Amino acid sequence: MEKRNAVWITGASSGIGKAIAMLFADKGENVIVSSRDGNELKKYLAPKSKNIFVFPLDVSDPEQIRGKYSEIKESFFVNALINNAGVTSFKPVVELTDDEVKKILTTNLIGAVNLTRAVLPEMIKRNLGTIINILSVAADNIFKNSSVYSASKSGLKTFTKILREEVREYSIRVINVYPGATRTPIWPSEVLEKFADKMMSPDDVAKVVFNVFQNKSNLVEEEIVLRPLTGDLKL
Ligand SMILES: NC(=O)c1ccc[n+]([C@@H]2O[C@H](COP(=O)([O-])OP(=O)(O)OC[C@H]3O[C@@H](n4cnc5c(N)ncnc54)[C@H](OP(=O)(O)O)[C@@H]3O)[C@@H](O)[C@H]2O)c1
Repeated sequence: MEKRNAVWITGASSGIGKAIAMLFADKGENVIVSSRDGNELKKYLAPKSKNIFVFPLDVSDPEQIRGKYSEIKESFFVNALINNAGVTSFKPVVELTDDEVKKILTTNLIGAVNLTRAVLPEMIKRNLGTIINILSVAADNIFKNSSVYSASKSGLKTFTKILREEVREYSIRVINVYPGATRTPIWPSEVLEKFADKMMSPDDVAKVVFNVFQNKSNLVEEEIVLRPLTGDLKL
């Protein structure tokens, strides 16, 4: 069978990633969805569209990334990668465990770096591609109880800004999206209960991501900050 173009999105089983996957599929794109929980993807997401293809993956494991991308490459050209998978622990530095520190950095930062490294050679060969990174306003702003999370996002921000300059000559677009508070299960339930109406909806964030993706002119919106109209949450 002839290879098809596809958009690969990580962290697609929930929140912002799920909304992006659904919108891209509704708009007719082939969408490869990854997250650790393959059941969630297979049972609830894939049946909603014939354009959704499930490849479960733990992005914190470089071996899994290489293996999964080899499988994907057999059927698809990944013309866009959306690095969205992310985790956090809302805790002060002094309370973080070794496991929490490792998980946040290997998922949010190292996972995105390794996914990018996996898809890049083919994008360079084809002289096209889009890499969209879902960062956070925490990359630049100070929020207590988000130290390692913020470090992971600002680390990825610096990585992607250098990547962008390295791949311009191959017509590869690197787009960073920095959302503020968005209504998803990443937040503890008591925060969601109290602040839901002051948060953005994942569907609205997804619309912005689709709009920048589909703009194929000589103009690239490289850095996009999204905040609720009422501003950052006062937790
Ligand atoms: N919600 C906000 O207020 C907000 C604001 C700014 C930025 N963001 C960013 O937006 C992105 C999406 O977050 P969200 O709010 O939508 O959170 P969410 O609802 O908790 O979704 C996180 C997604 O990441 C996946 N994931 C976690 N660890 C993974 C791993 N090791 N490998 C593969 N997938 C993994 C989860 O699926 P599995 O558990 O099945 O793996 C899930 O699909 C994150 O990068 C987050 O930092 C969110």
